[in-house]
Amino acid sequence: MERYTLKRGRSIMIKLSSVYKVFFPGTPNEILALRNINLHIRPGDFITVIGSNGAGKSTLLKVISGGEMADEGRITIAGKDVTDCPEHQRAADLGRIDQNPLTGTAAEMTIEENLALAYLRGKKRGLGLAVIGNRQKYFREVLAETGLGLEERLQTPVGTLSGGQRQALALVMATLALPKLLLLDEHTAALDPQAARQIMETTARLVQAKSLITLMITHNMEQALSFGNRLMMMHRGRIVLDIAQEEKRQLSVPQLIAKFTAASGSALADDRMLLEKEGFSG
Ligand SMILES: Nc1ncnc2c1ncn2[C@@H]1O[C@H](COP(=O)(O)OP(=O)(O)OP(=O)(O)O)[C@@H](O)[C@H]1O
Ligand SMILES: [Mg+2]
Repeated sequence: MERYTLKRGRSIMIKLSSVYKVFFPGTPNEILALRNINLHIRPGDFITVIGSNGAGKSTLLKVISGGEMADEGRITIAGKDVTDCPEHQRAADLGRIDQNPLTGTAAEMTIEENLALAYLRGKKRGLGLAVIGNRQKYFREVLAETGLGLEERLQTPVGTLSGGQRQALALVMATLALPKLLLLDEHTAALDPQAARQIMETTARLVQAKSLITLMITHNMEQALSFGNRLMMMHRGRIVLDIAQEEKRQLSVPQLIAKFTAASGSALADDRMLLEKEGFSG
């Protein structure tokens, strides 16, 4: 096991060293999705990630979760080298949600059954110890944290819930067993503005209450600025900006766009960001 590197008094929980990911290598369609990614993520980090379409944001999350394997470089989680570990072997350490409310939960099962599944997965990680007494009571308590009244609906089939309610449940499930890292890939992007706001509030509350290390991709620049303690911008497979809390707190959206243009040498181009700017969506 690799020794943790200490810096600023905080051990590194996730470490990417010289990571590359290439799609269609050696063909005219070759895509360098990740180029020399070096990233240290520490306890207390809640990193928001923005960047143009195709910048490599989702690929970054996937090489961490094992959904894609890195072609070069090393990845460690809590000091353990997982570079060659398949996805299922990393799953115990990670919580993941993407933008599709249908993928994080099972539609035919009730809220309680969904939570029971997450609970069983977590039990291997010692979750059982945290649940003193009645499991149903515990589920009600964690659901109450979402503020959506889901705790009164344990027997409701998940397929009948709204997209926002399903994402809230997915969040509760992904965080039930205290993952070493929570990976969020535009998890509010498919929701209406009100539901998106609510899910972000729940996200922030859970991250804070459970001290979760979090990596959150968003195309919403306001969101990227107002949440988290660190903001990264990606462009053509590279991390072109990594802004710490003190500086992030002072930034406005126009200043952020200007910083991106200066760092990347091109304009920030994301279809959804542009639509939002024109007022076509939330
Ligand atoms: N499985 C794959 N096979 C081939 N190419 C892929 C695959 N996944 C991603 N890519 C390509 O890699 C590049 C990075 O894609 P990625 O999905 O990481 O971008 P992104 O920053 O998440 O973009 P978006 O904002 O549109 O979600 C893109 O050019 C994409 O087409
Ligand atoms: Mg993406």
